[in-house]
Amino acid sequence: MYAKFSFLTILFSVLMMNNSAQANPLPLFVDDPHSCAKPEEAVIEHLQLQLDIDFQKKRIKGQAQYTIKTAMAANAFWLDTRGLEIIEVSLGEGQSTSYELMAEQPFLGRPLKINITPNTRVVNVRYQTTDEPGALQWLSQEQTQGGQLPFLFTQGQAVLSRTWMPVQDSPGIRFSWDATVKVPADFMALMSGTNPQEKNPEGTFSFRMDLPVPAYLIALAVGDLAFKPLGERCGVYAEPAMLERAASEFVDTEKMLIAAEKLYGTYQWGRYDLLVLPPSFPFGGMENPRLTFATPTIIAGDRSLTSLVAHELAHSWSGNLVTNATWNDFWLNEGFTVYFERRIMEALYGKDYAEMLAELGYQDVMKTIAGMGKDSQDTRLKLDLKGRDPDDGMNDIAYEKGYFLLCSIENLVGRAAFDDFLRKYFKEFAFKTIDTEQFVKYITRKLPAINSLQPALTQWIYQTGMPEHVKPPVSQRFRQTEQQLTDLLSGKMKLADLKTVEWTTHEWVHFIRHLPDTMDLSLAEQLDGAFKLSNATNAEIQAAWFEKLLPTSYTAINKPLDEFLVKVGRRKFVLPLFKGMAQNPARIDAAREIYRKARPGYHAVTAGSVDALFAQ
Ligand code: BES
Ligand code: ZN
Repeated sequence: MYAKFSFLTILFSVLMMNNSAQANPLPLFVDDPHSCAKPEEAVIEHLQLQLDIDFQKKRIKGQAQYTIKTAMAANAFWLDTRGLEIIEVSLGEGQSTSYELMAEQPFLGRPLKINITPNTRVVNVRYQTTDEPGALQWLSQEQTQGGQLPFLFTQGQAVLSRTWMPVQDSPGIRFSWDATVKVPADFMALMSGTNPQEKNPEGTFSFRMDLPVPAYLIALAVGDLAFKPLGERCGVYAEPAMLERAASEFVDTEKMLIAAEKLYGTYQWGRYDLLVLPPSFPFGGMENPRLTFATPTIIAGDRSLTSLVAHELAHSWSGNLVTNATWNDFWLNEGFTVYFERRIMEALYGKDYAEMLAELGYQDVMKTIAGMGKDSQDTRLKLDLKGRDPDDGMNDIAYEKGYFLLCSIENLVGRAAFDDFLRKYFKEFAFKTIDTEQFVKYITRKLPAINSLQPALTQWIYQTGMPEHVKPPVSQRFRQTEQQLTDLLSGKMKLADLKTVEWTTHEWVHFIRHLPDTMDLSLAEQLDGAFKLSNATNAEIQAAWFEKLLPTSYTAINKPLDEFLVKVGRRKFVLPLFKGMAQNPARIDAAREIYRKARPGYHAVTAGSVDALFAQ
C-alpha cells in the first residue's frame, strides 16, 4: 500500500511539473515552517544577481533574475523577503506583471507573491536593502584592522539571506547562481563561489556557483582584502595587516582537506579558501561554500584553535553537500560535522588531541542541558521550531548530543563499518536534502545492527536531555592538567613549578574551568601575575578566565573585559560574559554600561541575543 501511494505521488508530481520531462528527476519538498516559498508550484533553478554596493548610504541595490521551474497549474512564484524595498518586478524580457508584498510575519518577513503563468521561465526583481537589521553588517573603517576602508559582510544562516535578496530561503531548496558585484575602487568583493585573488581597478567582480546550493549558503564580503595561497587548492583572504598571521595559523588547511577526502570521499567544490573577518563576526565560523568565513579570534598564534577550520571544512560534506531539510533537522548538519571535524583532528594530531575537544564539548553540552533543564524540549535532536525564530532553538545540543549519538553508533558497528556507511550516505544524498525521518529509515536499512543501539535511535532523537549511559569522553592530557591543578591547590606544587609550556588552548581552558569557584582571590592574582590571563592574547583563554571570575569581586578583569566586549562580537563569548555580569549584582551596572558602548559594533545576530538577555 505504501509503495503504491508513493509511486502515485511521484507520478502525480511529475505530471504536474510542466517542464520537468527533462533530465532532472523532481525533488519532493519537505514542508519548511520558516519559508513562505511554495516550491511545488514554482521553484528557483538558477539565480543571477547584479549588486551595487553603496557604502555611503549603507545599501545594496540589486537586480535579481530567477530562472524557474513551474508546475502545470502554477500561477504564483513565492519569494521570502525581509526588510527589502521592492522596486520593480517583471517577467521574461521585461513583461510587466502584478505582485504583492504580503503582511510582515515575525522573523520571517514579508512573502513576495509574483503572479506568473505556467509558461513563465524567467522572473526579474529590482530591489534595495534598508536599515532593518538582518544579514548585513556595515562596518566603519574604525572597526577594521587597517582602519582605512569600511567593510561589509553577510551572514545568511538561518533565515537571514532574505534580508539582502528576495529568495526562496529554505534549506530544502537548491539552485545554482552567478553574480556581478560593483564596489568602489580599492575594495575587493568575495562570495561563496568562484573568487578573485586580486583587486581590479573597475571594482567589478564576477562570481559563479554552478553546483546547486540552498540560499543560506550564499554569502558576500567587501573590504580591503588580500589573498595568500596555502596550498594547491587552499588559500586565505584577510585584511593586509592580518594576512601573514592568518596564513601562518592555517598552514595545515590543505592537509585537513586531504585527510577529509581520505575519510569520506572527494571534495566536490573545487577550491577551499578561508576569509578572516573583522572581530564583530557573530560566529566562530560559517561554512560558506568554497569560502569559509572565520572570526579573527581563532588566530591564537599557536595554531591551537584550528579545529574550527576542520569543522567548517567538514561542512563541505555534512551540510553543504547533504543538507538538513529544515532547521528542525539542524543536528544532521552540525552533529555530523562535529563528528567529522574530530576525525580530521584525530587524523592530523592524534587521538589524545581529539579527546580534549570531545571532553570540552561534553562539558559544554552538559552545562547547556543543566541551564535549560533536562526536560526542555529544545534538548531534543529533532527540534520543533515552528512559530519561533530558528536561531533561538539552535544550541549545542545539535552539535554535541549529535556527536555522541554518532560515536555510540560507531561503537556499536565498529569504525570501519561506520565509515563505510558515512561514505555511502554522502554519496547517496549529495546535493540533496534530508530530514531526520529519512535518515532514520536510511540508516536502519543500511546498518540493521542499529536496532540494538542502547538507548534506541528514536530515543536519542526524540527524547530530551542526554541519555544516561553515555560514557563521558576521557582525555589523558586533561588528567595530567588536573593533577597539576590538584597539586597546586594542595600546596604540593608551587605556581612557578606548573608545567604549562606544552599546554594548548584546550589545557588552559580546562585548567581555568576547574579552578574552584570559591578560590581565594589572591590565587587569581598570582595566576594573573604569572600567566597574564586577564590580558591573554588568546580569546578562548581570556573569555574562560573572565567567566570564572565574574561571580567574584576580582577587579583586575574589569578593564580588559570592557575592552574585549567592545572589540569582539562573537556571540559564543559575548553572551555568557554578559550573562555572568548580569548575575552578579555588583557587576550589573557595568554590564549595561559596557553594552551601551559595545552594541553599535555588534552584528544583529549578537545584538538580538544580548537584547533578549537584558529584556528578561
Ligand atoms: N553553521 C554554523 C554557524 C551557524 C549555526 C550560523 C547556526 C547560524 C546558525 C558553523 O558551522 C558553526 O557551527 N560554527 C561554530 C564553530 C564550530 C567550531 C562549533 C561557531 O560559530 O562557534
Ligand atoms: Zn557547524
